[in-house]
This record gives sequence, structure tokens and C-alpha cells, in this order.
Amino acid sequence: MQDEVEKIIEIKNVRKIYRMGNEKIYAVDDVSFEILKGEFCCLLGTSGSGKSTLLNLMAGIEKLSGGEIIIKGKNIHKMNENNLAKFRQRYLGFVFQSYNLMNSMTALENVEFPLIFKRVKTKRRKLLAKDMLLKVGLGSRLNHKPSEMSGGQQQRVGIARAFVSKPEIVFADEPTGNLDTKTAMEVMNLIKTISKENNQTIVMVTHDRRLADYADKIIHILDGKIQSIEVIPNDTMENDPTLEKADKETAATEDNIDKMVLEEKDMSLPQIDVDSLSEIENVSINTIDGDKMTDINEKERGIEE
Ligand SMILES: Nc1ncnc2c1ncn2[C@@H]1O[C@H](COP(=O)(O)OP(=O)(O)OP(=O)(O)O)[C@@H](O)[C@H]1O
Ligand SMILES: [Mg+2]
Repeated sequence: MQDEVEKIIEIKNVRKIYRMGNEKIYAVDDVSFEILKGEFCCLLGTSGSGKSTLLNLMAGIEKLSGGEIIIKGKNIHKMNENNLAKFRQRYLGFVFQSYNLMNSMTALENVEFPLIFKRVKTKRRKLLAKDMLLKVGLGSRLNHKPSEMSGGQQQRVGIARAFVSKPEIVFADEPTGNLDTKTAMEVMNLIKTISKENNQTIVMVTHDRRLADYADKIIHILDGKIQSIEVIPNDTMENDPTLEKADKETAATEDNIDKMVLEEKDMSLPQIDVDSLSEIENVSINTIDGDKMTDINEKERGIEE
């Protein structure tokens, strides 16, 4: 008997109603669908259609007005704050449109960040972060701060940070929104290549049909409702010229791991201790722990608006 593919996310009759004075805004209006493990799912719709609201509900960042969201068999909106924070930390990764990197930290330190909360030891943490940065083609920018990198490079750091702890699900809201077309395609290829390598599930929001073509499944959204669900049969990566480059970088990464261990003592990364991190950029430990994800998101929304 063939194994059934796991339904990793189940959205059941989900609603989000915002009240503005006497007006009710049905941002998400009775939406139901499922996402399978390893699937690249895209929420596609015009501005104001409710994509970000739906993504934030799925990530447990916003509260539901109705319905249920089941992730890995758990009703995430029934969890208490603490358990939800742990759940996010264990299973979820995030990529933001405006990168949300720590400006005073290097690329390497930014990517190490999620591993600190997973209590990964310093040496292994550095190795994993460096490996991930090589994978996204930033081996020569490890000690650069965000202000010393291009937008595309910053977003590759953002991707390395989201994927470094190998979360089962990665949520991305317009991850290429600030990038030119060519860089956007490269970033999309990276997300797709890395997620397929590790059988990770991607839920990505976009208004751009060309980017949605990278997905296995497209949920078309209009006025808070699902218009249609499209399953993409072919794999767009097969004919993509940028894939070859990404593959080479991956191969180089694997070859370089031993060398990286030897180079470890030459790394100029200062010892990061958790107490000092809490003061950096006014971001509390809880921010990444999950408790204050709302704050990150609000910051993100503030920048977008
Ligand atoms: N905090 C809020 N309070 C009131 N209304 C809101 C709030 N957040 C979103 N909305 C409304 O809900 C609807 C959906 O917003 P949402 O941000 O989900 O759209 P979107 O599809 O992500 O759009 P965009 O592509 O512009 O980011 C919009 O009409 C928006 O004005
Ligand atoms: Mg949005």
C-alpha cells in the first residue's frame, strides 16, 4: 500500500474580520484548503486580497475570527503563547520582504541567530551558518553587515537565516518584493532548490504570477476568498539557467565543509552571548522565540504601508 502524503497544513473555514468603527472588513472569508508536506504553495492575489492576513493566521501571528488551522496535526490557535512560541521555533521559518536582518551583526551572525535559540553549540553553529551562506552564494560576504550588501545579498542572508535550522515549514511574504526581476528569479530558485533538497514545505505570498509559477500549488485569492486552486504539473526548475549555478554552489559547499572546519579558528566572529543579543537592535530574545513575532510583523507591515 502506498503511503499517503502528510497533510502538513489544514485550513478549515478560516475567517478574519477586522472591525474599523462600525465597518467590518472580511480580510479572510471562509477559506479552506490543504498543503501537503514538501509542497511549494503560493498564495496569489492582488493588493488587499487578504494574502498577508492569511499567511499571518497560518503562522499564528494573528488571531482567528473563525475556523481552524491545523499544522502537523496541532490546532495552533488553541495553543497557549508559550507552546505556540516553542512550536514556531521548532517547525517554522520566516522570510520577510524587507529582510529584517540585524543591522549591527554580520551576515554570519545573522544566520547563526536562530541556532542560538536551538542551543546549538558555538562551533557547530558557525559551521552550519557558514555552510548555509556558501549555499546561497555568499561565501565571500560572511563578515559583511547588511548595510555593506546589496538588496539581493541581504535577502539571501534572510533565506539562509530562515533555512539554517531546517524548519519543516517556511512562510515567506513577498520575499522578492524589493528585488529586480533577475535577482528575484535567483532568490526564487534558491528557495525552491533548498526546500526541495530537504523536503521542506513553503507557503509564499505574491501578487506576481511569474513568481507563482515556481510553486506546485497556487491558491488564487480575491476579496478574502479562494477563487480557484491550481496545481502546477511541470517543474519550472528543469529549464532554468540559474539552477546550474545554484547546484555548483551547493556542490562547492559540500566539498568545502572539511576546509571550513580547519578555518574555524581563523573566523573573526566574536563570541555571541544570549544576554548581549537581547540588547541588539532593541530586539528581545522573545522576538525570535516567537512571543513577539507580532511585533516583527507589525514592523514589517509598517514598512510596507
Ligand atoms: N490591522 C488591520 N486592520 C484593519 N484592516 C486590515 C488590517 N490589516 C489588513 N486589513 C485589511 O484587510 C484586507 C487584506 O489585507 P492584507 O494585508 O491581507 O492584503 P494583501 O493581499 O497582503 O495585500 P498586499 O499585496 O497589498 O500586501 C485589506 O483590505 C486591508 O485593508
Ligand atoms: Mg501583503
